[in-house]
Amino acid sequence: MQKGMTFARFCAEQEALAGGNGDLTTLLDAVNAACRRLSDLVRRGEMAGVLGAAGQENVQGEEQKKLDIIANDVFIESTEWTGQLAALASEEMDNHYPISGQFKRGKFLMTFDPLDGSSNIDVNGATGTIFSITRFEGEGTASDDDFLQSGRQQVCAGYCLYSSASMMVITLGNGVAGFTLDNSIGDFVLTHPSMSVPAAANEFAINAAYSEHWQAPVKQYINECVLGSDGVRGKAFNMRWAGSMVGDVHRILCRGGVFLYPLDERMIAKGTAGKLRLLYEANPMGMLMEQAGGLAHTGLQNILDIQPDGLHQRVPVIMGSSEEVERLIEYHQSQS
Ligand code: AHG
Ligand code: MN
Ligand code: MN
Repeated sequence: MQKGMTFARFCAEQEALAGGNGDLTTLLDAVNAACRRLSDLVRRGEMAGVLGAAGQENVQGEEQKKLDIIANDVFIESTEWTGQLAALASEEMDNHYPISGQFKRGKFLMTFDPLDGSSNIDVNGATGTIFSITRFEGEGTASDDDFLQSGRQQVCAGYCLYSSASMMVITLGNGVAGFTLDNSIGDFVLTHPSMSVPAAANEFAINAAYSEHWQAPVKQYINECVLGSDGVRGKAFNMRWAGSMVGDVHRILCRGGVFLYPLDERMIAKGTAGKLRLLYEANPMGMLMEQAGGLAHTGLQNILDIQPDGLHQRVPVIMGSSEEVERLIEYHQSQS
């Protein structure tokens, strides 16, 4: 694949290879437009009047930022007219969003996290948009239940990172490619043709402020990492936590490492299964990880094999370099 190729050409070629008829490319072109608009809003920040709290909570009881809601609206407006979608669902909407009556309906379902890492927005930190596309197999109008497909059913997954540069990273099931937004031409161009996660790594990403609540397998793993070259691992580790899954996963796709947002005792006491959401965070990032040679797991189950039971279902997340994830799986299995 030729560096410098546009996102549209890449999608068309990848879709043709998979036997598609151009419909997915049409939808992805609209996703591209949404992400370019969001990149511009994030970059202009306070000047565009988009920073700060919205003064309301989403269905998950989380405080919404103004930009969470704006990003949700931009994503819907930019994609619903294409005729390719049966419905959309996102972090910021209680139930699925049916395509407006004036537009043709299509055969794809898309879930998305409009603005991931939104607590970073007011401090100019990394944020992103995550999306996952599956097929609508039903008849007539789509319902919430039509979205309850395992990660293996995804035909496409990706994210756009808004950071020092804006980057679109995508898989259509044939590897992972990264595109950088070239502001001089207003389009994403191929800069990272074949992203792959090294099997071995010496960098981990976890919110260590919650360490007292971690379960034994995670405590053991992190304790061994921080013992450094004199410890059981025999090598020094580095820690990074971007506060945005997109930022952390992007770094791991570029240079390896492991990202953890595990189940902890506090969540168990509250009756929740994790923090991150399966359908628009864990599944799309899991597909990207696997396509780049890494792994995505809960510690007890491969994320992509989970049969979802709710639109906003939460899951424990451990993903990244295969040797590190496999070690964490071993610790979970031997201690469960
Ligand atoms: P979102 O902003 O979409 O709700 O997602 C935030 C997520 C994820 O991006 C990040 O890894 C994690 O929450 C950060 O959580 P903590 O604040 O608990 O570290
Ligand atoms: Mn998120
Ligand atoms: Mn979000």
